[in-house]
Amino acid sequence: MQQKTIQAIILAAGKSTRFNTGRSKLVEKICGQEMILYTTSLLQNLAIPAHLVVGYQAPAIQEVVTRHHNNYFGFLEQTEQKGTGHAVLCTRSVWHADTLLIINGDVPLITSSLITTLLQDHDAHNAAISFVIAHNEDPTLIGYGRIVEQDGIISIVEPTEFKGDTHQHSWINAGIYLINRSFLQEYCQQLQANPTNGEFYLTDLIHMASKNNLGVCMVKSSFDTIRGVNTLKELWAVEQIKRADIISLWMERGVRFMAAQTNNIDINVSIGAGTMISNGVHIVNNSTIGAHCILEPFSIINNAHLDQQVTVRSHCVIQDSHIARESCVGPFAHIQSTTIEQECVIGNFVETKRTAIGNNSKAKHLTLLSDARIGTHTNIGAGTITCNFNGSAKFQTTIGNHAFIGSNNTLIAPITIHDNSYTAAGSTITQDVPEQSLAIARSRQINKLNYVPLLKSKKSSAAPFIAAVKTNTEKTPKE
Ligand code: UD1
Ligand code: MG
Repeated sequence: MQQKTIQAIILAAGKSTRFNTGRSKLVEKICGQEMILYTTSLLQNLAIPAHLVVGYQAPAIQEVVTRHHNNYFGFLEQTEQKGTGHAVLCTRSVWHADTLLIINGDVPLITSSLITTLLQDHDAHNAAISFVIAHNEDPTLIGYGRIVEQDGIISIVEPTEFKGDTHQHSWINAGIYLINRSFLQEYCQQLQANPTNGEFYLTDLIHMASKNNLGVCMVKSSFDTIRGVNTLKELWAVEQIKRADIISLWMERGVRFMAAQTNNIDINVSIGAGTMISNGVHIVNNSTIGAHCILEPFSIINNAHLDQQVTVRSHCVIQDSHIARESCVGPFAHIQSTTIEQECVIGNFVETKRTAIGNNSKAKHLTLLSDARIGTHTNIGAGTITCNFNGSAKFQTTIGNHAFIGSNNTLIAPITIHDNSYTAAGSTITQDVPEQSLAIARSRQINKLNYVPLLKSKKSSAAPFIAAVKTNTEKTPKE
């Protein structure tokens, strides 16, 4: 027998009214990925050709889907949001397969095994329409159509109309349907507008099929798998589940989480085995973490790449950066658009921006490295600042290999400190320093010997004495 063909329709035109954010819920992120992409990715992985019905904030949804999937998905417009049945009707022009898989765009936790079961059961029961249901007796659960069977006829009763007992009618509709095209073509246009809100409910097709003795097949799922997202509270609940799934996966692969309930790990992140992740660490936005890293509490790693055996001490923000193996960063470091080669130490209260640091170099305390190129085996003293900005333009600081920048230096860019050179502590360096040289750029010290007792005896009238100083070391004036 010839295999039945299948195509999918994702309903994504709704107004997200219950979200109250002014944005379509479908582009809201769950674990770093837009909600709609969970469904689209599932369909592409199953190689099912699909269209999305878009309407409310269509350009935003189209942009997200196209960026992720190129042109895999087609788009159809529902110009006026008149319900799920109307949304499906708007796709009539592209119906061509034997069966249509119709999925609400707001059920992001569904799995490919659920879809596979739906396809198998639909065929096995020779159904005209199949749909996914889940058990939930919670009387406070709102927003789901409930399955009601009366005189052998099955219906889905939407929450606005449901007056029954949730214990008695404890199965809810998931919003995932498989429908024979011939049935859909005949009955979709017979849907009637709901008298209270004027919407055409896709769910009314179940009653039509059942009443006409056409096969209706219900496929059971766990409630968590088919949780819908209509409110921000439901988004939060779904994200908790997704996050727990992601973390469980990394645990299985050998990543240790000290307090997993406090971690945010995005879906598009990868983590090497043997890595240890402490409380409150967030790893987001395509970041990659190598094996055997140690991430101490409360750091944020955003679009950053850490090679193996990197240590991130507590309270760091690392963004758009690469840190090579065996380097150590923090505590309290802010690393942005920076490349740190292997075995470096970037310590407390150090900020780096648009900077490259060569292997085995160190900047251990209270330093700003901005627009800097630093060689290997170089030491940056505490309190160093690369002054990259003159108020209108930015300039680069270059520091060679095996250099030593004394503490509390200001390096006025553009400037180059060549290999093997030193700068003295407290210097303001304004000129390039040649190789193997020591630059000292600070005012000379004067010691006024035995000056303090005199100050004390003259108390507030000491000012004229200070003005009178001419030499580096003077005897105490005798007057
Ligand atoms: C729907 C079902 C309900 C089911 C629940 C499961 C209907 C009438 N009700 O309710 O039985 O238990 O899903 O989560 O179908 N959409 C459009 N155009 C519209 C309206 C909606 O494309 O005019 C899209 C939305 O963007 C959304 C999906 O359809 O992705 C479902 O719409 P939603 O308003 O969330 O339906 P529910 O009230 O959740
Ligand atoms: Mg919904």
